[in-house]
Amino acid sequence: MQLDSLSWFPGHMTKTRRMITAELGNVDAVCEILDARIPMSSRNPDVDELTAGKPRLIVLNRVDQADPEMTKKWAAYFRSLGCAVIETDAKQGGGVKQFSSAVRTLLRDKIASYEAKGQLGRVLRVMVLGIPNVGKSTFINKVSGRKSAKAEDRPGVTRTKQWVPVDKTLELLDTPGILWPKFEDSSVGVRLAFTGAIRDEVVDIEELAMRLMDYLGKNYPKAIEERYKLTVSEEDDGYALLEKAGRKRGFLISGGEVDTERMSRILLDEFRGGKLGRFTLEFPPEGERT
Ligand code: G4P
Repeated sequence: MQLDSLSWFPGHMTKTRRMITAELGNVDAVCEILDARIPMSSRNPDVDELTAGKPRLIVLNRVDQADPEMTKKWAAYFRSLGCAVIETDAKQGGGVKQFSSAVRTLLRDKIASYEAKGQLGRVLRVMVLGIPNVGKSTFINKVSGRKSAKAEDRPGVTRTKQWVPVDKTLELLDTPGILWPKFEDSSVGVRLAFTGAIRDEVVDIEELAMRLMDYLGKNYPKAIEERYKLTVSEEDDGYALLEKAGRKRGFLISGGEVDTERMSRILLDEFRGGKLGRFTLEFPPEGERT
């Protein structure tokens, strides 16, 4: 299947790694924006190693689309690793107001030591990282009141690093370069594709929808039953559920067969559009120190 052979672009990542390393000395903390629906798959694990030793703030973004109970568990998990955590819906602005106080709490020892040296009101600088489509630009715009969209992403325009002021004593470093997720584990690619972070042109839609249905049927059967007016039985796999849903919707082709491709597109659209509800697609690792 195509999903298993998705590859990323090591050249881009090398450039981004260099940039992160070069700028690390200029910042007090690192803010990593994650998709609350897939907090692990939307991370680049290299960030841990690259930014080791820097205080870390995790922004669980897109909480409006994620399962609230699971978001609590993920927040507890990241806190157990020593990170500060905030939960945001950058699109509507929910939770973004907590950002500056979360940074100041995270850096309280550093602020105290600056103040002990007489450096009152010294500017705190935070590097913001996130894989494409996680909501990084939306988040930065909301937190800072920045108006401009992603002008720097226009083709042919070289992105340069940008310091974005939040207030008098807090600045963000909007990092140029693309931070790729890690596709080595095929399930990561699949989850990114569920959320639409990977374009549908590069994946097999039916395979993807079947896997999504499988996950939802096992973990959120009520949502599927309500939306598609069907009954989920234990033996139903993703394909069987796609067929049931397609039949209910009347998506039939000659011979009375279900048009599963059409149903696949509908499922993915409805899932991404929030019509089925709020879902989290992965669990925090076992044995988390909560
Ligand atoms: P990026 O810089 O990380 O690549 O992502 P960007 O901010 O461009 O956001 C990608 C899409 O995700 C945008 O939608 C944005 O509105 C949406 N988004 C960002 N944060 C959230 C969130 O917390 N919740 C929800 N539901 N959506 C979020 P778009 O379709 O590209 O544009 P538009 O429809 O918002 O105009």
